[in-house]
Amino acid sequence: MKKRILVTGGTGYIGSHTVVELQHSGYEVIIIDNLSNSGVDVVDNIEKVSGIRPVFEELDCLDYNGLDALFAKYKGIEAIIHFAASKAVGESVQKPLLYYRNNLVSLINLLELMPEHQVGGIVFSSSCTVYGQPDELPVTEKAPIKKAESPYGNTKQINEEIIRDTVASGAPVNAILLRYFNPIGAHPSALLGELPNGVPQNLIPYLTQTAIGIREKLSVFGDDYNTPDGSCIRDFIHVVDLAKAHVIAIDRILQKKQKSDVEVFNIGTGRGLSVLELIHAFESATGVKLNYEITGRRAGDIEQVWADPEYANKELGWKAGTNVEDTLRSAWAWQLKLRERGIQ
Ligand code: UD1
Repeated sequence: MKKRILVTGGTGYIGSHTVVELQHSGYEVIIIDNLSNSGVDVVDNIEKVSGIRPVFEELDCLDYNGLDALFAKYKGIEAIIHFAASKAVGESVQKPLLYYRNNLVSLINLLELMPEHQVGGIVFSSSCTVYGQPDELPVTEKAPIKKAESPYGNTKQINEEIIRDTVASGAPVNAILLRYFNPIGAHPSALLGELPNGVPQNLIPYLTQTAIGIREKLSVFGDDYNTPDGSCIRDFIHVVDLAKAHVIAIDRILQKKQKSDVEVFNIGTGRGLSVLELIHAFESATGVKLNYEITGRRAGDIEQVWADPEYANKELGWKAGTNVEDTLRSAWAWQLKLRERGIQ
Protein backbone atom coordinates (compact mmCIF):
# COMPACT_ATOMS: atom_id res chain seq x y z
CA MET A 1 0.00 0.00 0.00
CA LYS A 2 1.14 3.52 -0.76
CA LYS A 3 2.33 5.57 2.18
CA ARG A 4 0.10 8.52 2.92
CA ILE A 5 1.58 12.01 3.24
CA LEU A 6 -0.28 15.17 4.23
CA VAL A 7 0.86 18.29 2.41
CA THR A 8 -0.39 21.54 3.92
CA GLY A 9 -0.34 24.41 1.46
CA GLY A 10 -0.22 21.80 -1.29
CA THR A 11 -1.81 23.99 -3.95
CA GLY A 12 0.79 26.72 -3.41
CA TYR A 13 3.93 27.32 -5.41
CA ILE A 14 6.41 25.00 -3.71
CA GLY A 15 3.68 22.72 -2.39
CA SER A 16 2.24 21.86 -5.80
CA HIS A 17 5.64 20.95 -7.24
CA THR A 18 6.35 18.82 -4.19
CA VAL A 19 3.04 16.97 -4.49
CA VAL A 20 3.96 15.91 -8.03
CA GLU A 21 7.39 14.65 -6.93
CA LEU A 22 5.85 12.73 -4.04
CA GLN A 23 3.38 11.10 -6.40
CA HIS A 24 6.18 10.20 -8.82
CA SER A 25 7.96 8.52 -5.92
CA GLY A 26 4.95 6.38 -5.06
CA TYR A 27 3.40 8.31 -2.18
CA GLU A 28 -0.30 8.96 -1.78
CA VAL A 29 -0.83 12.65 -1.16
CA ILE A 30 -3.56 14.40 0.78
CA ILE A 31 -3.53 18.16 0.19
CA ILE A 32 -5.03 20.71 2.48
CA ASP A 33 -5.03 24.38 1.62
CA ASN A 34 -7.19 27.35 2.56
CA LEU A 35 -6.75 28.71 -1.00
CA SER A 36 -5.76 32.12 0.37
CA ASN A 37 -2.94 32.39 -2.16
CA SER A 38 -3.74 29.70 -4.72
CA GLY A 39 -6.64 28.31 -6.75
CA VAL A 40 -8.34 24.95 -6.70
CA ASP A 41 -7.53 24.52 -10.42
CA VAL A 42 -3.99 23.69 -9.29
CA VAL A 43 -5.35 20.28 -8.27
CA ASP A 44 -6.38 19.66 -11.91
CA ASN A 45 -2.95 20.70 -13.10
CA ILE A 46 -1.22 18.42 -10.62
CA GLU A 47 -3.32 15.60 -12.04
CA LYS A 48 -2.40 16.58 -15.61
CA VAL A 49 1.29 16.47 -14.74
CA SER A 50 1.40 13.31 -12.64
CA GLY A 51 -1.60 11.41 -13.95
CA ILE A 52 -2.80 10.99 -10.38
CA ARG A 53 -5.44 13.15 -8.73
CA PRO A 54 -4.41 13.98 -5.18
CA VAL A 55 -7.04 14.14 -2.47
CA PHE A 56 -7.84 17.79 -1.84
CA GLU A 57 -9.64 19.26 1.14
CA GLU A 58 -10.12 22.99 1.56
CA LEU A 59 -9.02 23.48 5.13
CA ASP A 60 -7.21 26.09 7.16
CA CYS A 61 -4.51 24.85 9.51
CA LEU A 62 -5.87 27.28 12.10
CA ASP A 63 -8.97 25.05 12.29
CA TYR A 64 -7.99 22.59 15.02
CA ASN A 65 -11.23 20.61 14.92
CA GLY A 66 -11.13 20.50 11.14
CA LEU A 67 -7.60 19.10 11.26
CA ASP A 68 -8.61 16.57 13.90
CA ALA A 69 -11.46 15.41 11.66
CA LEU A 70 -9.15 15.27 8.66
CA PHE A 71 -6.69 12.94 10.42
CA ALA A 72 -9.65 10.77 11.48
CA LYS A 73 -11.03 10.70 7.93
CA TYR A 74 -7.72 9.88 6.24
CA LYS A 75 -6.32 7.34 8.66
CA GLY A 76 -2.71 6.30 8.53
CA ILE A 77 -1.06 9.56 7.48
CA GLU A 78 2.60 8.83 8.17
CA ALA A 79 4.14 12.26 7.81
CA ILE A 80 3.37 15.88 7.06
CA ILE A 81 5.08 18.44 4.88
CA HIS A 82 4.06 21.77 6.29
CA PHE A 83 4.13 24.57 3.71
CA ALA A 84 0.96 26.44 4.63
CA ALA A 85 2.02 29.89 5.82
CA SER A 86 1.84 33.57 5.01
CA LYS A 87 5.05 34.64 3.29
CA ALA A 88 5.07 38.29 2.26
CA VAL A 89 7.83 40.01 4.17
CA GLY A 90 6.42 43.55 3.74
CA GLU A 91 2.90 42.56 4.69
CA SER A 92 4.20 40.88 7.82
CA VAL A 93 5.58 44.23 9.00
CA GLN A 94 2.13 45.80 8.50
CA LYS A 95 0.16 42.92 10.00
CA PRO A 96 2.41 41.16 12.50
CA LEU A 97 -0.40 39.53 14.48
CA LEU A 98 -1.87 38.00 11.34
CA TYR A 99 1.53 36.47 10.61
CA TYR A 100 2.14 35.27 14.15
CA ARG A 101 -1.33 33.74 14.37
CA ASN A 102 -1.29 32.09 10.94
CA ASN A 103 2.21 30.78 10.98
CA LEU A 104 2.59 29.79 14.63
CA VAL A 105 -0.86 28.45 15.46
CA SER A 106 -0.96 26.34 12.29
CA LEU A 107 2.19 24.53 13.30
CA ILE A 108 1.11 24.20 16.94
CA ASN A 109 -2.18 22.62 15.85
CA LEU A 110 -0.37 20.07 13.72
CA LEU A 111 2.17 19.22 16.41
CA GLU A 112 -0.58 18.78 18.99
CA LEU A 113 -2.56 16.47 16.75
CA MET A 114 0.33 14.38 15.40
CA PRO A 115 0.77 12.09 18.43
CA GLU A 116 -2.99 11.61 18.81
CA HIS A 117 -3.18 10.35 15.25
CA GLN A 118 0.15 8.49 15.24
CA VAL A 119 1.71 10.82 12.67
CA GLY A 120 5.42 10.45 13.34
CA GLY A 121 7.16 12.87 11.00
CA ILE A 122 7.13 16.45 9.84
CA VAL A 123 9.15 18.32 7.25
CA PHE A 124 9.07 22.03 7.90
CA SER A 125 9.43 24.78 5.32
CA SER A 126 12.05 27.04 6.80
CA SER A 127 14.14 29.72 5.17
CA CYS A 128 17.63 31.11 4.85
CA THR A 129 16.09 34.23 6.33
CA VAL A 130 16.96 32.73 9.75
CA TYR A 131 20.65 33.54 9.05
CA GLY A 132 20.02 37.24 8.39
CA GLN A 133 23.21 38.66 6.85
CA PRO A 134 25.66 35.83 7.58
CA ASP A 135 29.17 36.70 8.76
CA GLU A 136 30.64 34.05 6.47
CA LEU A 137 29.65 32.96 2.99
CA PRO A 138 28.64 30.46 1.82
CA VAL A 139 26.49 29.94 4.87
CA THR A 140 26.41 26.55 6.60
CA GLU A 141 23.77 25.15 8.94
CA LYS A 142 26.12 25.91 11.82
CA ALA A 143 25.97 29.67 11.26
CA PRO A 144 24.34 31.58 14.10
CA ILE A 145 20.70 32.56 13.87
CA LYS A 146 20.42 36.35 13.62
CA LYS A 147 17.69 38.59 14.92
CA ALA A 148 14.84 38.44 12.40
CA GLU A 149 14.35 41.44 10.10
CA SER A 150 10.60 40.99 9.90
CA PRO A 151 7.72 39.26 11.69
CA TYR A 152 7.65 36.80 8.77
CA GLY A 153 11.29 35.89 9.37
CA ASN A 154 10.64 35.68 13.07
CA THR A 155 7.85 33.15 12.52
CA LYS A 156 10.36 30.88 10.74
CA GLN A 157 12.78 31.13 13.66
CA ILE A 158 10.11 30.62 16.31
CA ASN A 159 8.62 27.68 14.41
CA GLU A 160 12.01 26.00 14.27
CA GLU A 161 12.22 26.45 18.06
CA ILE A 162 8.67 25.17 18.58
CA ILE A 163 9.59 21.99 16.73
CA ARG A 164 12.84 21.54 18.68
CA ASP A 165 11.13 22.10 22.03
CA THR A 166 8.30 19.73 21.17
CA VAL A 167 10.66 16.96 20.14
CA ALA A 168 12.88 17.60 23.18
CA SER A 169 9.85 17.22 25.43
CA GLY A 170 9.58 13.62 24.30
CA ALA A 171 6.80 13.94 21.74
CA PRO A 172 6.94 11.00 19.32
CA VAL A 173 7.80 13.26 16.42
CA ASN A 174 10.76 13.35 14.06
CA ALA A 175 11.43 16.49 12.09
CA ILE A 176 13.48 17.82 9.24
CA LEU A 177 13.80 21.57 8.84
CA LEU A 178 14.62 22.58 5.29
CA ARG A 179 16.06 26.06 4.99
CA TYR A 180 15.27 27.16 1.47
CA PHE A 181 17.23 29.78 -0.38
CA ASN A 182 15.39 31.55 -3.25
CA PRO A 183 13.13 29.16 -5.16
CA ILE A 184 12.33 30.26 -8.71
CA GLY A 185 11.18 28.73 -11.98
CA ALA A 186 8.30 26.47 -12.83
CA HIS A 187 7.48 22.90 -13.74
CA PRO A 188 8.84 21.94 -17.19
CA SER A 189 5.26 21.18 -18.29
CA ALA A 190 4.41 24.87 -17.63
CA LEU A 191 1.31 23.62 -15.82
CA LEU A 192 2.55 24.54 -12.34
CA GLY A 193 4.35 27.67 -11.25
CA GLU A 194 4.28 30.75 -9.10
CA LEU A 195 1.10 32.82 -9.33
CA PRO A 196 1.06 35.53 -6.69
CA ASN A 197 -2.10 37.47 -5.91
CA GLY A 198 -1.88 41.10 -7.01
CA VAL A 199 1.40 42.89 -7.57
CA PRO A 200 4.28 40.45 -7.08
CA GLN A 201 6.67 41.16 -4.24
CA ASN A 202 9.32 38.66 -5.29
CA LEU A 203 11.81 39.20 -8.07
CA ILE A 204 10.99 36.53 -10.65
CA PRO A 205 7.22 36.93 -10.93
CA TYR A 206 7.74 40.69 -11.20
CA LEU A 207 10.43 40.14 -13.81
CA THR A 208 8.38 37.78 -16.00
CA GLN A 209 5.29 39.99 -15.68
CA THR A 210 7.41 42.92 -16.88
CA ALA A 211 8.83 40.88 -19.73
CA ILE A 212 5.33 40.02 -20.94
CA GLY A 213 4.08 43.60 -20.56
CA ILE A 214 1.81 43.37 -17.50
CA ARG A 215 4.21 45.62 -15.57
CA GLU A 216 5.97 48.53 -17.17
CA LYS A 217 9.35 48.28 -15.54
CA LEU A 218 11.23 46.12 -13.09
CA SER A 219 12.82 48.04 -10.24
CA VAL A 220 16.21 46.78 -9.14
CA PHE A 221 16.33 47.59 -5.48
CA GLY A 222 19.77 49.11 -5.10
CA ASP A 223 23.12 48.96 -6.92
CA ASP A 224 25.21 50.39 -4.12
CA TYR A 225 25.66 47.24 -2.06
CA ASN A 226 29.10 45.90 -1.28
CA THR A 227 28.94 43.31 -4.07
CA PRO A 228 30.81 43.17 -7.42
CA ASP A 229 28.03 44.88 -9.39
CA GLY A 230 26.36 46.59 -6.43
CA SER A 231 23.09 44.62 -6.55
CA CYS A 232 22.04 42.03 -3.96
CA ILE A 233 23.19 38.44 -4.29
CA ARG A 234 20.94 35.41 -3.78
CA ASP A 235 21.08 31.67 -4.26
CA PHE A 236 18.33 30.98 -6.81
CA ILE A 237 17.20 27.37 -6.82
CA HIS A 238 14.86 25.68 -9.28
CA VAL A 239 11.59 24.86 -7.55
CA VAL A 240 11.60 21.28 -8.88
CA ASP A 241 15.04 20.67 -7.36
CA LEU A 242 13.69 22.05 -4.11
CA ALA A 243 10.60 19.85 -4.35
CA LYS A 244 12.80 16.78 -4.73
CA ALA A 245 14.61 17.58 -1.49
CA HIS A 246 11.28 17.17 0.29
CA VAL A 247 10.77 13.67 -1.05
CA ILE A 248 14.22 12.69 0.16
CA ALA A 249 13.47 14.20 3.57
CA ILE A 250 10.24 12.21 3.81
CA ASP A 251 12.03 8.99 2.76
CA ARG A 252 14.65 9.68 5.39
CA ILE A 253 12.13 10.15 8.18
CA LEU A 254 10.06 7.12 7.24
CA GLN A 255 13.10 4.91 6.75
CA LYS A 256 14.44 6.10 10.12
CA LYS A 257 17.72 7.24 8.63
CA GLN A 258 17.97 10.43 10.65
CA LYS A 259 21.05 11.16 12.70
CA SER A 260 18.98 13.07 15.23
CA ASP A 261 15.28 13.63 15.81
CA VAL A 262 15.47 17.15 14.44
CA GLU A 263 17.72 17.71 11.46
CA VAL A 264 18.43 20.91 9.55
CA PHE A 265 19.51 21.22 5.93
CA ASN A 266 20.31 24.15 3.68
CA ILE A 267 18.56 23.72 0.37
CA GLY A 268 20.33 25.87 -2.18
CA THR A 269 22.62 25.58 -5.19
CA GLY A 270 25.78 26.87 -3.54
CA ARG A 271 26.04 29.60 -6.15
CA GLY A 272 25.34 33.26 -5.53
CA LEU A 273 23.98 35.34 -8.39
CA SER A 274 23.34 39.06 -8.28
CA VAL A 275 20.00 40.56 -9.24
CA LEU A 276 21.62 42.20 -12.28
CA GLU A 277 23.32 38.94 -13.28
CA LEU A 278 19.97 37.21 -13.04
CA ILE A 279 18.33 39.83 -15.26
CA HIS A 280 21.05 39.40 -17.88
CA ALA A 281 20.82 35.61 -17.63
CA PHE A 282 17.08 35.90 -18.26
CA GLU A 283 17.65 38.08 -21.31
CA SER A 284 20.21 35.74 -22.84
CA ALA A 285 18.28 32.54 -21.95
CA THR A 286 14.98 33.75 -23.41
CA GLY A 287 16.03 36.39 -25.95
CA VAL A 288 13.55 38.77 -24.33
CA LYS A 289 14.75 42.27 -23.48
CA LEU A 290 13.77 43.49 -20.07
CA ASN A 291 12.81 47.02 -19.13
CA TYR A 292 14.40 47.74 -15.76
CA GLU A 293 15.77 50.61 -13.75
CA ILE A 294 17.88 50.91 -10.66
CA THR A 295 15.93 52.34 -7.76
CA GLY A 296 16.60 52.72 -4.06
CA ARG A 297 17.21 49.86 -1.68
CA ARG A 298 14.25 47.94 -0.27
CA ALA A 299 14.01 48.13 3.51
CA GLY A 300 15.00 44.92 5.23
CA ASP A 301 16.87 43.36 2.29
CA ILE A 302 19.89 41.24 3.03
CA GLU A 303 22.95 42.25 0.98
CA GLN A 304 24.15 38.81 0.02
CA VAL A 305 23.45 35.24 0.93
CA TRP A 306 24.10 31.90 -0.66
CA ALA A 307 24.17 28.38 0.65
CA ASP A 308 26.82 25.92 1.50
CA PRO A 309 24.68 22.91 0.48
CA GLU A 310 27.41 20.34 1.17
CA TYR A 311 25.68 18.80 4.16
CA ALA A 312 22.50 18.21 2.14
CA ASN A 313 24.59 16.99 -0.83
CA LYS A 314 26.42 14.42 1.27
CA GLU A 315 23.88 13.41 3.85
CA LEU A 316 20.73 13.46 1.71
CA GLY A 317 22.42 12.55 -1.57
CA TRP A 318 20.59 15.54 -3.01
CA LYS A 319 21.92 18.23 -5.32
CA ALA A 320 20.31 21.14 -7.13
CA GLY A 321 20.90 20.01 -10.70
CA THR A 322 19.18 22.59 -12.91
CA ASN A 323 21.21 25.46 -14.33
CA VAL A 324 19.95 29.00 -14.05
CA GLU A 325 19.27 29.39 -17.79
CA ASP A 326 16.90 26.41 -17.86
CA THR A 327 15.35 27.62 -14.63
CA LEU A 328 14.67 31.07 -16.09
CA ARG A 329 13.34 29.58 -19.33
CA SER A 330 10.89 27.54 -17.27
CA ALA A 331 9.70 30.69 -15.47
CA TRP A 332 9.20 32.38 -18.83
CA ALA A 333 7.36 29.38 -20.32
CA TRP A 334 5.02 29.48 -17.31
CA GLN A 335 4.33 33.19 -17.80
CA LEU A 336 3.56 32.60 -21.51
CA LYS A 337 1.28 29.70 -20.59
CA LEU A 338 -0.63 31.89 -18.13
CA ARG A 339 -1.33 34.31 -20.95
CA GLU A 340 -2.47 31.44 -23.19
CA ARG A 341 -4.83 30.33 -20.44
CA GLY A 342 -6.14 33.90 -20.21
CA ILE A 343 -5.11 34.21 -16.58
CA GLN A 344 -2.74 37.12 -16.98
C1 UD1 B 1 12.30 37.02 0.87
C2 UD1 B 1 12.67 36.48 2.22
C3 UD1 B 1 12.61 34.98 2.22
C4 UD1 B 1 11.24 34.56 1.83
C5 UD1 B 1 10.91 35.12 0.47
C6 UD1 B 1 9.44 34.76 0.17
C7 UD1 B 1 14.20 37.73 3.59
C8 UD1 B 1 15.61 38.13 3.81
N1 UD1 B 1 14.01 36.92 2.56
O1 UD1 B 1 13.34 36.64 -0.02
O2 UD1 B 1 12.89 34.49 3.48
O3 UD1 B 1 11.17 33.17 1.84
O4 UD1 B 1 11.05 36.53 0.48
O5 UD1 B 1 8.61 35.80 0.00
O6 UD1 B 1 13.33 38.12 4.30
N2 UD1 B 1 14.20 42.53 -6.02
C9 UD1 B 1 14.27 43.57 -6.91
N3 UD1 B 1 13.12 44.01 -7.50
C10 UD1 B 1 11.90 43.43 -7.24
C11 UD1 B 1 11.84 42.35 -6.33
C12 UD1 B 1 13.01 41.93 -5.74
O7 UD1 B 1 15.35 44.12 -7.17
O8 UD1 B 1 10.89 43.88 -7.80
C13 UD1 B 1 15.44 42.05 -5.39
C14 UD1 B 1 15.42 42.13 -3.89
O9 UD1 B 1 15.88 43.36 -3.44
C15 UD1 B 1 16.36 40.99 -3.52
C16 UD1 B 1 16.18 39.98 -4.65
O10 UD1 B 1 15.58 40.70 -5.73
O11 UD1 B 1 17.67 41.45 -3.52
C17 UD1 B 1 15.28 38.82 -4.27
O12 UD1 B 1 14.08 39.34 -3.74
P1 UD1 B 1 12.80 38.43 -3.41
O13 UD1 B 1 12.48 37.61 -4.61
O14 UD1 B 1 11.74 39.31 -2.87
O15 UD1 B 1 13.32 37.42 -2.33
P2 UD1 B 1 14.07 37.70 -0.92
O16 UD1 B 1 13.82 39.05 -0.44
O17 UD1 B 1 15.47 37.25 -1.11
